[in-house]
Amino acid sequence: VSLADIAAFVDTFPGSGVSRVFLAGGEPLIWPPIFEIVEAIKAAGVQVVLCTNGIPLGRPEISDRIVELGVDAVSVSLDSTDPATNDRYRPARNAAHGWADVVTGIRALLAARAEHAAPRVGLYTVVTRQNLHEILPVGRLAAELGCDYYVPQPISLAADHILHTELSLTPADTPTLESALTSLYAAHLPVRLPAQGYAGRFLSTIATDRPGFVPDCFGGRTLFFVEPDGSVWDCPSALKIASTPDTRRRSIVTTTATDVFTPSPCTDCALFSRDCVNMWPLMEFGAFALTKELQ
Ligand SMILES: C[S@@+](CC[C@H](N)C(=O)[O-])C[C@H]1O[C@@H](n2cnc3c(N)ncnc32)[C@H](O)[C@@H]1O
Repeated sequence: VSLADIAAFVDTFPGSGVSRVFLAGGEPLIWPPIFEIVEAIKAAGVQVVLCTNGIPLGRPEISDRIVELGVDAVSVSLDSTDPATNDRYRPARNAAHGWADVVTGIRALLAARAEHAAPRVGLYTVVTRQNLHEILPVGRLAAELGCDYYVPQPISLAADHILHTELSLTPADTPTLESALTSLYAAHLPVRLPAQGYAGRFLSTIATDRPGFVPDCFGGRTLFFVEPDGSVWDCPSALKIASTPDTRRRSIVTTTATDVFTPSPCTDCALFSRDCVNMWPLMEFGAFALTKELQ
């Protein structure tokens, strides 16, 4: 979708009820007009959270601009305390950058923030069969770096994905996962975690491959997902997107936020899967990631 179409859509935010936008991508911080969009969203009185691989944060003009614009939070992906493990599964396209640049980037952003209240800075770890034991160590790393929040999230791969067997968590991983999540919450690290119910939701999607049921889900009611082509979905779940009827297909192009973010007629959802686990921390983001007090 064009920059002009995005800008026109953002102009319709005031009064629409939109209160927070997570900009994910792709990689938002290598898209040159990103800060024009961030500025417009902030000008509309809406919070902005940037979800990034963290590498661009090492460029002073990027971290300084994030602070200057009052971006509310920056969520950085890092999957291991071990550079080689992280970079094997999360290689940079230029094959040169990696774990060390992410850590440098986080430090640079925290230094640029200095005494400013924003942004809050957090780590997101995608949990796989290869880094299951790192749930607590990455939390410790987040604390050591001075991050404010930490979210381990389950990997979600289609059954026919080439890395499915190597990476996807299976029901047999449940005891190890349960003990890792219990240790994380029991450690009382000086970083904020999603509310405790998150661990149970995470575990429930690993214990079975059958989709679960969520009564009165926020997806399509107070949460919406916009793809880079401008299409709007009730949530980012692949199962939910696949089951969306043609009548509920829409786009941000030539419409307003008020018109496009209309509540779904039915939000009882029988498609709860690994894809969905991470949505709860997004919904409670203000309470767990944007406040300074520790739980
Ligand atoms: C798609 S990324 C985009 C933002 C940014 N480029 C990054 O790397 O974080 C947004 C979030 O999804 C996570 N993610 C990517 N692929 C995933 C998968 N197959 N299963 C679960 N989470 C995934 C990322 O680690 C990150 O936390």
